[in-house]
Amino acid sequence: MRLFIAIELPDHYKEALEKLRTPAIPGARWVAAEQIHLTLAFLGEVDEETSKRLITRLARIKATGFELCLAGTGCFPDRRRPRVVWVGVKHEPGLTRLAEMVRETVLACGIPQEERPFSPHLTLARLKFPASREVSDFLDRQQQLDLEPFPVKEFILFQSKLLPQGALHIPLKSFPLAKHDSAK
Ligand code: 2AM
Repeated sequence: MRLFIAIELPDHYKEALEKLRTPAIPGARWVAAEQIHLTLAFLGEVDEETSKRLITRLARIKATGFELCLAGTGCFPDRRRPRVVWVGVKHEPGLTRLAEMVRETVLACGIPQEERPFSPHLTLARLKFPASREVSDFLDRQQQLDLEPFPVKEFILFQSKLLPQGALHIPLKSFPLAKHDSAK
């Protein structure tokens, strides 16, 4: 099974993000609104036994909920050769801690993880070729999205089925986060 761990977004976020779609970027494959998520860890192919161990260990994670807040737009790897266009997510300490705990749990199950630091983002589009001028224009045009932060109360283990029409993301199990004290 091809697996990944992510945070699901409220519907109004997905709808607002879908509105950023534009035909102005040639070769862009836009992510369908219902598929937009915040990836915490990509696991790739995992066998049945390992996935059971993973679920047991993920359920032991003791992390607290937090507010997810968007932070502008950008692209990977850079504006000269853009391959992925995204909306950024603020580095909230609760999010960073959760991503670290998830990473350690995944590694403890013997599933390799990339070395590069966690860079929270919501992928909007993947590019068939690096249309750098059009992507730069798009990024320069974007205003800060006017969306209220939303409370993250769980994270989810997803299966990704690669179908001819694109990837299908199936939620396998959700893991609740402890109640976040928002009365600061
Ligand atoms: P993303 O969050 O940057 O879009 C499911 O495939 C999710 O896992 C995608 O949203 C994707 O990235 C993330 N991911 C990270 N590394 C990946 C890889 N090597 N192949 C496929 N997806 C990957």
